[in-house]
Amino acid sequence: MSGSPPELPIAVRGALMPTSQRLVINRRGSVVWEVESSRGHYAVKLGYPIEATAEWPAQPWTALAPAREGAVLYRLGYLSAFGEWERGTWNFQPWHLGPDLYRVWESCRRPDSSIAPHVSVALGCVEALAELHAMGWAHGDVQPAHFIIGPERTHLIDLALARGGPVPEQYDFPFRGCLVHYEAPEISRSVLATGEAEPTQEADVYALGASLLISATGWRAVEYPDDAPRAVQRKAVADGRRRPVKVPGELGELIDGMLSHAPEDRPTICEVRKALSHL
Ligand SMILES: Nc1ncnc2c1ncn2[C@@H]1O[C@H](COP(=O)(O)OP(=O)(O)O)[C@@H](O)[C@H]1O
Ligand SMILES: [Mg+2]
Repeated sequence: MSGSPPELPIAVRGALMPTSQRLVINRRGSVVWEVESSRGHYAVKLGYPIEATAEWPAQPWTALAPAREGAVLYRLGYLSAFGEWERGTWNFQPWHLGPDLYRVWESCRRPDSSIAPHVSVALGCVEALAELHAMGWAHGDVQPAHFIIGPERTHLIDLALARGGPVPEQYDFPFRGCLVHYEAPEISRSVLATGEAEPTQEADVYALGASLLISATGWRAVEYPDDAPRAVQRKAVADGRRRPVKVPGELGELIDGMLSHAPEDRPTICEVRKALSHL
């Protein structure tokens, strides 16, 4: 599918009347476009099922993810629309301008860099996650690419795996973990044992800690070979094989606390916000 992306569904074209569109990604069952029109600036997401390959088992849920996300956005009171196309589901939502967290801290990661990660950038990410937690939801897929650092505020995107309220049954699917780099030990352990897990706010705090660490230093929180099979990576996370990597200063101490092995030892997102706003 990677060679020829599908077209914008007709329902989306009718609703948005695009004057220009740019393909942003086309990978693993998901296509994203940036669409502009006189009606606004939107991200359009399309899902389709992933066939089994040598590395991947079949993943039919990727077809449902955009509608599930659209339903979550609607529940949370954000602007969005969602529907079905021939091979799966779609949604559209406002386009958020700006680089992501990983890009914003690129200069901090250069080997001889003396640039310290900006506390204000971290605070923006914390505030975006705090907003979601305050509404009683957990994100489930917190990672650097999902924080868009805008001129006015930071947005947390990709709510396809979020938990906290009802979503239509026909678009729902179990949570099977996220990118292992950002997976809390208890999530990895549960995925290894049962194939599924429950996203929680505590696991989001861990994932934000891991996101801040990797964006500021280039290092993952946990030690495992890059090419290790997913189950081996998860075992390392579950066993808590932390790398001795630190972000310098008080921000670093805070990140260390967020990466605590036991969920109850991690600060809540409100505690993180409070500590950061004093730095
Ligand atoms: N609302 C949005 N505003 C700006 N960029 C977006 C938006 N939604 C998606 N993107 C871009 O598309 C990429 C993939 O989107 P994402 O929602 O993470 O989909 P996927 O389910 O494929 O992971 C993001 O990393 C970002 O670059
Ligand atoms: Mg994503």
